[in-house]
Amino acid sequence: MKILTLALLLQCSYAGLIKRSGGISYIFGFGDSYTARCFNISGVQPSQFNPMGNPPDDRCTSSDGPNWIEYLTTTYNNSLILTYDFAVSGGAIPNSLVDQVMFQYEPMYSHSNHTWTGDNTIFMIWIGINDITILSSLYQNMSDFNVTLPPRFDQYFSLMENLYNTGARKFMFINMPPLDRTPMIQNYTTPIIQNFAQGVSLFNDVLLPQYVDWFQGNHSNIQTTIYDAHSAFNTILDDAPAYGFANNSCFNSTDCFWWNNYHPEGAVHQRLAKQMVTNLTPLGW
Ligand SMILES: *[C@@H]1O[C@H](CO)[C@@H](O)[C@H](O)[C@H]1NC(C)=O
Ligand SMILES: *[C@@H]1O[C@H](CO)[C@@H](O)[C@H](O)[C@H]1NC(C)=O
Ligand SMILES: *[C@@H]1O[C@H](CO)[C@@H](O)[C@H](O)[C@H]1NC(C)=O
Ligand SMILES: *[C@@H]1O[C@H](CO)[C@@H](O)[C@H](O)[C@H]1NC(C)=O
Ligand SMILES: *[C@@H]1O[C@H](CO)[C@@H](O)[C@H](O)[C@H]1NC(C)=O
Ligand SMILES: *[C@@H]1O[C@H](CO)[C@@H](O)[C@H](O)[C@H]1NC(C)=O
Ligand SMILES: *[C@@H]1O[C@H](CO)[C@@H](O)[C@H](O)[C@H]1NC(C)=O
Ligand SMILES: *[C@@H]1O[C@H](CO)[C@@H](O)[C@H](O)[C@H]1NC(C)=O
Ligand SMILES: *[C@@H]1O[C@H](CO)[C@@H](O)[C@H](O)[C@H]1NC(C)=O
Repeated sequence: MKILTLALLLQCSYAGLIKRSGGISYIFGFGDSYTARCFNISGVQPSQFNPMGNPPDDRCTSSDGPNWIEYLTTTYNNSLILTYDFAVSGGAIPNSLVDQVMFQYEPMYSHSNHTWTGDNTIFMIWIGINDITILSSLYQNMSDFNVTLPPRFDQYFSLMENLYNTGARKFMFINMPPLDRTPMIQNYTTPIIQNFAQGVSLFNDVLLPQYVDWFQGNHSNIQTTIYDAHSAFNTILDDAPAYGFANNSCFNSTDCFWWNNYHPEGAVHQRLAKQMVTNLTPLGW
């Protein structure tokens, strides 16, 4: 009897192990130009031989090749994954995440006709870069992120509640890269550079962990992870030549970290995707 129980237990945990790894079949992506690839929900849908749907290639990314979500889907995947990427270039929380969640994802993919389940789907969200930019002293006479960022987080996580209510259970949040180190911002005066650094720090060190904790605390049946893009960027920028880049300031040349003055190159996206697997493994990747 004891032996039989043990055998059954072993079988169960073995099945459990098989299910854990490679158990992801769908990604829903939300964000801005760092994630966008111009997917149109009315166009060709993701399928086995075309896992990102439309457009068929990576011409629409903000780099010189695939972006992180494309690398995750087709290079660092552990299973066949179909990816629905709602991200829009220039997207910020109030004007775009709302649209992506409520007017793209919800009407089209959240009804009972969907084939994804909470268990085999990861929701990936990288939003906030344009919020910080718009709220910064580049565009506001009085920039106080302490006052302007928290309401955006209320809206951000109210939209995460929407996703939860449609069955979303696994979430990867991505924090802010060091926007203050982009060539575009480095080109400005010290007060503006410092203002960007403050916004990024408030976002990454205070607000994102706080809201993810609350979200997790309110839902015992979800899994969340935060991918630290900030550290990933800084590690390379601190010693660009060690990672094969000419330096940390040039852009628009294949040996540069930056593709243009506000976006990284494809090689950076590939590195991010590869690292994200560590975050995603506990979620069943
Ligand atoms: C998406 O595709 C539909 C149907 O082809 C088209 O009418 C619409 O303009 C497209 N949207 C965008 C943003 O390109
Ligand atoms: C990864 O994705 C590609 C593209 O969809 C697919 O051909 C490949 O079989 C997938 N890898 C695994 C391990 O399933
Ligand atoms: C699912 O159903 C909704 C509501 O009927 C519809 O609008 C949507 O297009 C459907 N989605 C797919 C992928 O068929
Ligand atoms: C900043 O101040 C100037 C001069 O008072 C005003 O014209 C401009 O509209 C203000 N800009 C913002 C974003 O509030
Ligand atoms: C914003 O809040 C942080 C920590 O709560 C504080 O250190 C900082 O001085 C505040 N910034 C402003 C502009 O009030
Ligand atoms: C720096 O500012 C100058 C003057 O506005 C502009 O011409 C140049 O393109 C900017 N460089 C970067 C890297 O943004
Ligand atoms: C649930 O979320 C709210 C904010 O929406 C937060 O105040 C509260 O602490 C959260 N509950 C838990 C147990 O984390
Ligand atoms: C950075 O590398 C680029 C491309 O090789 C080069 O043109 C530029 O002079 C370098 N900049 C600095 C500050 O070394
Ligand atoms: C890169 O430089 C080429 C010319 O050398 C220019 O045509 C192109 O627009 C630039 N791209 C970016 C992203 O700055």
